[in-house]
Amino acid sequence: MIGDVLRKMRVLSGIQCTGRFHWGNYFGAIRQWISLQGNEQSFYFIADLHALTTLRDPQLLREYTRDAALDLVALGLDPEKATLFRQSDVPEITELTWLLMTVTQMSLLEKCHAYKDKKAKGLAADAGLFTYPVLMAADILLYDSDVVPVGADQVQHIEVTRDIAQRFNAIYDDVLTLPTAHVLDATAKVPGLDGEKMSKSYGNFIEIFESQKKLRKKIMSIKTDSTPVESPKDPDRCTVFELYRLFATEEEQAAMAERYRAGGMGYGDAKKALLEAALDYFADARQRRDDLVEHPDRLDDILQSGAKRAREKGREVLDRVRSACGLSGC
Ligand code: TRP
Repeated sequence: MIGDVLRKMRVLSGIQCTGRFHWGNYFGAIRQWISLQGNEQSFYFIADLHALTTLRDPQLLREYTRDAALDLVALGLDPEKATLFRQSDVPEITELTWLLMTVTQMSLLEKCHAYKDKKAKGLAADAGLFTYPVLMAADILLYDSDVVPVGADQVQHIEVTRDIAQRFNAIYDDVLTLPTAHVLDATAKVPGLDGEKMSKSYGNFIEIFESQKKLRKKIMSIKTDSTPVESPKDPDRCTVFELYRLFATEEEQAAMAERYRAGGMGYGDAKKALLEAALDYFADARQRRDDLVEHPDRLDDILQSGAKRAREKGREVLDRVRSACGLSGC
């Protein structure tokens, strides 16, 4: 839950829409964003400009962006409590990106892992991927963000953001607010169908709003060992149980662990229990999502008013930055 100190701060985070959200996205980030939305200071956005560095199908990008917004609202991101918007609806971001780029050292970006990894694999990186962290810095600095809740893999980007802001402040004037990373709890490890970390790139994911039929099929395909039905099983070495834990109460977890150890329960039964627990857990969200799909104007309104609020704050900071650099009109 949100602490008092955090309540007064501006919390900001973004999520890329390069596919449909899966359980790993939910437990690793979305659920935690939602528990941090304490006031009108929380800004959350769908990073569609960042998605362009990997997704180059306009129809799919449109679809995934819309799906991302639907999913977030359905899962409990409350537009009364937080500002939800599409990154590309705030053109101030790209202007700030350029201004920041002029003070960003190449050596800083050369160290960044997304670019380095691609280069190490011998793949051609484009300028978009290379300057991805500057766009991210603009996302953060545009709203005077104090706290940025992100996964551990993004901490480097927050440090780059701080470096860029410090350099800008030193060259010009102290106009940019330095943000801090709030590293999201990764203890809720979400394994995929094969037991490895659930990830879009491994193809082992379960989408949050998968059709019931597909959900059943996927859950039934989770890899288990070949212990026969009658034998006792170790819950702590079973992906099905690890996933079940995410959805079940402590008592339910203890009861299920007991059934594993007692023997006589096959993995098929454990999978059925997981299916039911997951359906139950997301039942309200599924209902809310269906309602939203029926009323597309509601989502449009949410995104429009979110963009308006974000732009108001963004304009204020951008004017400060423009004026500090000596650009006209400020
Ligand atoms: N790069 C982040 C990710 O892939 C998404 C992102 C873009 C972001 N801009 C941001 C996260 C600003 C936090 C703040 O997860």
